[in-house]
Amino acid sequence: MSKKIQAIRGMNDCLPDVSYIWQFVEAKFRSVLNSYGYNEIRMPIVEMTDLFCRSIGEVTDIVEKEMYTFPDRNGDSLALRPEGTAGCVRACIEHGLLHNQQQRLWYAGQMFRHERPQKGRYRQFNQIGVEAFGIDGPDIDAEVILLSARFWKEIGITDLELQINSLGTNEARAEYREVLVEYFSANKDQLDEDSCRRLETNPLRILDTKNPDMKQLVENAPVLTDYLDEESKVHFEGLLKILDENGISYRLNPRLVRGLDYYNRTVFEWVTTKLGAQGTVCAGGRYDGLVEQIGGKPTSAVGFALGLERIIAMLEELNIQVPCNTPDVYIVAAGEKAQPHAIYLSEQIRDTVAGIKLITNAGGGSFKSQFKKANKCGAKFAIIIGDDELEKGIYGVKPLLDNSEQVECSFDQLVTKLQDVINNGN
Ligand code: HAM
Repeated sequence: MSKKIQAIRGMNDCLPDVSYIWQFVEAKFRSVLNSYGYNEIRMPIVEMTDLFCRSIGEVTDIVEKEMYTFPDRNGDSLALRPEGTAGCVRACIEHGLLHNQQQRLWYAGQMFRHERPQKGRYRQFNQIGVEAFGIDGPDIDAEVILLSARFWKEIGITDLELQINSLGTNEARAEYREVLVEYFSANKDQLDEDSCRRLETNPLRILDTKNPDMKQLVENAPVLTDYLDEESKVHFEGLLKILDENGISYRLNPRLVRGLDYYNRTVFEWVTTKLGAQGTVCAGGRYDGLVEQIGGKPTSAVGFALGLERIIAMLEELNIQVPCNTPDVYIVAAGEKAQPHAIYLSEQIRDTVAGIKLITNAGGGSFKSQFKKANKCGAKFAIIIGDDELEKGIYGVKPLLDNSEQVECSFDQLVTKLQDVINNGN
């Protein structure tokens, strides 16, 4: 026997016993997005590598060590997208979606990062992302945050903390960067290897270190908030005021810097303690410089992305039940005429009873073996067709979830009964 081929490490199959949960979450999110007037955009999974280098930043973890890149047959360097913002901006510029207009967009799909796989961290993972373009004020920052909060409410997720910070303008950050380099250089003996490297390339990322030995050092570091420019301060206060007015609680986290370089002003993360080390389920912020950076006209922008695997894990952790996909009816048929009639009857039922979930036995088998399948799939009822009953124009209906008696009914009675199942669940 030849060796079995298995899925790639960190890239998961989504099996039928959980795919209905994904569908539930995705449908909820779509309905929340519709209620805010956001439109879907679908971008390719593969882009030019350079797009990500220029947007996410050459010296970020993602670009330095996590991207799946490969040469195309013509020699171009291509990359599997590690996130959606860069591709979304590229598509908007390419198709003129940002000319004197605002855009409220969303996308969903697979992203790829060559990280060390662990619970909540995968090499292929799914994001739902939201991006709003062409709006300056803090009202749109508030809108995307409120939208995410509504989504948590809709799917029943609690236990999330909103952490929020302002990174200010590039100039304010450059000034802060200098102060930070000075501080960390004076304490170089306490930096780990990664942080020493970052001191040269991206010192703000040192604040993000997970190394417990550096906790004190980072805690005592100067804070960005003290270097914020006046306009960014006003913007941030405006945002917090809207959040307060709408009852959204948050924690100001002056150490929140994010791992992608394109942010300015507002950054935020929704964080849980329920998922261990990978506790950020949703993250984003403002990125007013990115459109220009990749070839468009200066355009304000803000957005976020949530990690679907982590949302699904949260539902499980909080024991939140979602409606499952079990069929309402399983049709059991035995007999020369009954079997072909089962297919005909199923089609008639689907024509008549909107929304019915119905499985028709396929592949024959005895009544007993068909009933076994009916029970296994979790259907509420079995409809039973035999040649004799068919002659008389009647069908047997047997409830499968309790021990109540089988009854006989005509097609019209059957339809009434099934409509009742759909409308009232019995
Ligand atoms: P990000 O923080 O890199 O931001 O990712 C957003 C979310 O994707 C994370 O909070 C997490 O839930 C999920 N995620 C990231 N990496 C993994 C992984 N390896 N496995 C499982 N889940 C993961 C962005 O991607 C930005 N594009 C967000 C954004 C949109 N900012 C503005 N607009």
